[in-house]
Order: sequence, then C-alpha cells, then structure tokens
Amino acid sequence: MARASNLPLQVPSIKRDFPIFERTIHDKPLVYLDSAATSQKPRAVIDAEADFYGRYNANVHRAIYELGEEATREYEGARERIAGFVRAKSPNEIVFTKSTTEAINLVAYGIGVKGRIREGDEIVGTVLEHHSNHVPWHFVKEHRGAVLKYVDIDDDGRLRMEAYDELLTKRTKIVTVAHASNVLGTINDVREIAKRAHEVGAVCVVDAAQSVPHLPVDVQALGCDYLAFSGHKMLGPTGIGVLYGREDVLAETEPLLGGGEMIREVHLGTSTWTDVPFRFEGGTPNIAGAIGLGAAVDYLAKLGMDAVRRHEIELTAYALEALGGLDGVRVYGPRDAKARSGVVSFTMEAAHPHDIASILDVEGVCIRSGHHCAQPLMERLNVPATARASFYVYNDIEDTDRLVAGLRKVHEVFA
Ligand SMILES: Cc1ncc(COP(=O)(O)O)c(C=O)c1O
Repeated sequence: MARASNLPLQVPSIKRDFPIFERTIHDKPLVYLDSAATSQKPRAVIDAEADFYGRYNANVHRAIYELGEEATREYEGARERIAGFVRAKSPNEIVFTKSTTEAINLVAYGIGVKGRIREGDEIVGTVLEHHSNHVPWHFVKEHRGAVLKYVDIDDDGRLRMEAYDELLTKRTKIVTVAHASNVLGTINDVREIAKRAHEVGAVCVVDAAQSVPHLPVDVQALGCDYLAFSGHKMLGPTGIGVLYGREDVLAETEPLLGGGEMIREVHLGTSTWTDVPFRFEGGTPNIAGAIGLGAAVDYLAKLGMDAVRRHEIELTAYALEALGGLDGVRVYGPRDAKARSGVVSFTMEAAHPHDIASILDVEGVCIRSGHHCAQPLMERLNVPATARASFYVYNDIEDTDRLVAGLRKVHEVFA
C-alpha cells in the first residue's frame, strides 16, 4: 500500500507551485479531486499568460515589427514543444483549437459532414465515450446518412475488443475511441484499435482528453490518424486545445473555420487555403492560451510523464482499496489500477451522488457528481449518476484519506 513518503512525485513542493492551494474551502485546506473536469494551474502557466499580455502582446504571423515577431516565436515555440510532448513527427501536425470538443468537431466536419462519407458508410464508436465524442458523429449521421455502431464494455468496464471483429466492415470509414474513459478510468488499447481500423481502410480518431494529461502518449507508437486533447485538463489555460493529425490525413481534411489566417488567396466568390496546420486556424488564435499550454507542457515534462503515471497508479490503487472497504460503496471500472487512469467513479447505496458531493464540499473536498457528459454510459451502467474523484500531480495519500473520512460522514448522515 502506498505511503505519502514513497509516492513518485514530491507533492508538498508541487503544491507550493499552485497558488490555489493557499486558500481554504469552508475553513479547511482545499482537497481538489476534480482534475478530470479541469486541472489547477501552476504559477508558471499563469505567469506565461500574463507575460504575453504584459510584455509582448501583438497578433501572430502578420506583423513585421519586433513585438509581433516575438509573439509569433512564442506561439510557434509552444506548438513545437507540444508536438514533442506527444511525439508528433512535426509541429505541422499540431492544430490549435479551443478544446477537445472543437478538435473532434473539426474532424467530424472535415472528413464527415464536408468530406468523403457517403450514405451507408459506417462509423464505429464505443459506449464509454464523452458526449463530445458522440454528438459530432450524430451530425455526420444527420447530414450524410452515416450508420453509427458502438463497441460495448464488459462487467469490468473494459471494451469488448472482440466486438471489433463483427463491427468493422468494408463500409467502416471512421473508428473512434477515448484513450481513457472519464468515468470508468479504463485505458483502451488504441494501438490495436488503430491497427484494426487501418485493416479495413478506416481512419482512427482518438479522444485523448483524459490520457495526454496523465500518461506518456506517443502518437506515432499508437498509430492513430487524429488525436484530440484539451489544455485546461493538463495544467494549461481554458480555451486552448489541440488536434494532432498525421500530415497526410490533415492535408485531406476540410477546414471548419473560414476567414483570416487560413487562406492563400481570396477573390470575390472564391478562395484557396494555405498549408497545414494554419488552414485549420482561421481568425486570430488564442495566442496567450497556446503560450500558457506550452508552459504547462514544460512543467509536466520536468516532472516526467512516467513519474506522473506511476504516481497516479499508486494513488488510484490506494483509493480503490480504501473505497472498496467502505460499506455500501460500489466502484466502477477495472479493479486493476494499472488498467485505468486516476479517475474513480462510485455510488453509495444510501446517498445520491449530489448529496455525497455536497457533504464532501463542506469538508473541503471537491469531487464531481452527475452523468459526467456520458449519458449513454450511464444508461449502459443502469445508473442515473455517479460520484467521481480524480487525481493529479498535486494529490497525495492524505487527500484520499480526507475523501474517505468525508464518505464516512456521508454514511453517518444517510445510513
Ligand atoms: C474523455 C473526454 N473527452 C472530451 C472531453 C471534452 O473536453 P473539453 O470540454 O475540454 O472540450 C472531456 C471533458 O471532460 C473528456 O473527459
């Protein structure tokens, strides 16, 4: 069983990098266990954004003057570091978006609604997706008559990989999957799924919102075609996300936003587009956000993503055991901490998830309750909602102990 002293990350010193941990909640030290929704921000990220606005604020790519060149250098420097962080072949494979949601919509529009999908073509997803990896494909169904199919999970919350044997056909054009589930924590075998997709000539689109922040991700090793993630879940600012796309598939993807920055030539009535990735970044981008995300990536790289992953495995294993020992608590997802990310969803017989979250709030512990933007998965699990604790680099054993103590209080109140 993990102890605070032998966790891979030095949490007390990490906590000092995050100004938010200087405050209290209901006069108690803040225990933040909702990083799957959004992470807290280290001073380095806050300062990087402030530094842009305070010292070299100018628009990117167009200005001839020094200030504009500095802004462009920092913006493009962030793209390069993010490319390195996910092991992309080139920064040209990194498109800045607003979020994972926008990145997936870009793909669904660019190869689905406006692309090569024909009536009866098939898109294979899974039952454990976040709404942002369901709804964009509903658009493709509506606009192009695509057929949607879904891989189910087993009782342990793992994808039934054998289902791909049946579901993948010559008509499959897109296979999409979350790398890690935001409810069950399950880490899916993207490498195998991408391989299977390619065998039938389909592209593989990965929702990595819950993996890139938490484990080493190598897009070339995974072999996927597109991969989406959000800055705000990985210590970065809100309003900035990333679409990774292999350069050849991006070249065949239609842009979502038309406007400035993304064009080569515009005439009355017609236009042509500039190169990848800029053709997907119409309009003034979120310059400060990209620079902030660059600082977040530097911070995570310094901790080391292998250490981040080991840290979360230790914390999750500890939490699974502690919650498993509580009366009337049911935990969802794989039992094995190595098969999941640092997300632990649970229900209590005696109390609704919202009541659990409210009582924990009074104890200074922030957790999530609800359907977690995964209503199809809630239907599959046959529950209206769950409570969810999620861990990150600033959490330790003591935080889990505070969670467990809070849950004992919930039990006292409701049982
Ligand atoms: C698995 C998964 N996909 C997509 C998203 C959407 O991310 P965003 O709201 O940053 O677009 C989330 C957010 O919770 C998520 O957990």
